[in-house]
Amino acid sequence: MTKAQTVLEVNSLTKQYGERTAVKDFSLTINEGEFWGLLGPNGAGKTTTIKLLTGLTKPDNGKILYFGNSFFSQPKQAKKLIGVVPQHSNLDRDLTAFENLNLHAILHAMPKKIRKEKIDQALEFAGLQDYKNKQVKTFSGGMKRRLVIVRSLLHDPKILFLDEPTVGLDPQIRRSLWDLVVKVNQVKKTAILLTTHYIEEADKLCRQIKIINSGTVIADDTPEKLKNKVGNFILETYNGEHHVGRFFPTKEEAVAHMKESGQEAKVREVTLEDVFIKLTGRRINV
Ligand SMILES: Nc1ncnc2c1ncn2[C@@H]1O[C@H](COP(=O)(O)OP(=O)(O)OP(=O)(O)O)[C@@H](O)[C@H]1O
Ligand SMILES: [Mg+2]
Repeated sequence: MTKAQTVLEVNSLTKQYGERTAVKDFSLTINEGEFWGLLGPNGAGKTTTIKLLTGLTKPDNGKILYFGNSFFSQPKQAKKLIGVVPQHSNLDRDLTAFENLNLHAILHAMPKKIRKEKIDQALEFAGLQDYKNKQVKTFSGGMKRRLVIVRSLLHDPKILFLDEPTVGLDPQIRRSLWDLVVKVNQVKKTAILLTTHYIEEADKLCRQIKIINSGTVIADDTPEKLKNKVGNFILETYNGEHHVGRFFPTKEEAVAHMKESGQEAKVREVTLEDVFIKLTGRRINV
């Protein structure tokens, strides 16, 4: 098997906004086809990280390399390798799905003779072929997100940045978007860095996760190992004011402890939320 190439290498990235350090000493290596997640609460620095990695803002310190080349010395070449789905949709509501995609293709200097075919393929990939000539303002939230995702892939990027792609969508639509994102990673082999504050989203989708809080990475591993490190099961008791959790490596040990204590309690599997609480003392979603 050939070794996967490194798509993105980031070293000690730091971004300061006045007194506030939005991103501190952030390092990351993403290889071809990998699926990474950046999980953290509001204001953790997720969007700032994406903006730094896609050239929308400049760092105060640190290095960004795409396929070994410095982003800052060759920004144009690097941007051809990048696809971005921003936190806030930037589709033109008055244009049709086709027109929105066509605009992106023109901006990426895609030759006219392949544009139409690429756009048709993109619409089909997103399951939006029947909406090709409909104005985006008639689309549901989920359809708009699907369109933004395939638009970001039109120029065949090697890495896709998704900033909170399912925020505000209802659970069923969120799941269908997860399927689309997994399809992008598995069928197109595009490397992905996704930010989210949804625990389940990070757990289900990402094979590697960095948990960030106040601009700093506080944990970095696979979802399974992050959970294993704190203990696989939690014994939750209610002390009259709030829930208190105690971690155990196995369900049997948690249950045995519950029986011993004689207190009313609940045993359940740990989640990434428990990992976050253990590390920071607060919840991700407040
Ligand atoms: N342009 C800016 N000027 C000043 N401060 C900023 C700016 N952009 C972000 N910040 C601050 O930097 C910190 C990180 O913000 P960022 O938007 O990266 O967080 P986030 O993790 O994306 O949060 P959310 O989940 O709310 O989108 C926050 O404290 C925010 O107020
Ligand atoms: Mg954000």
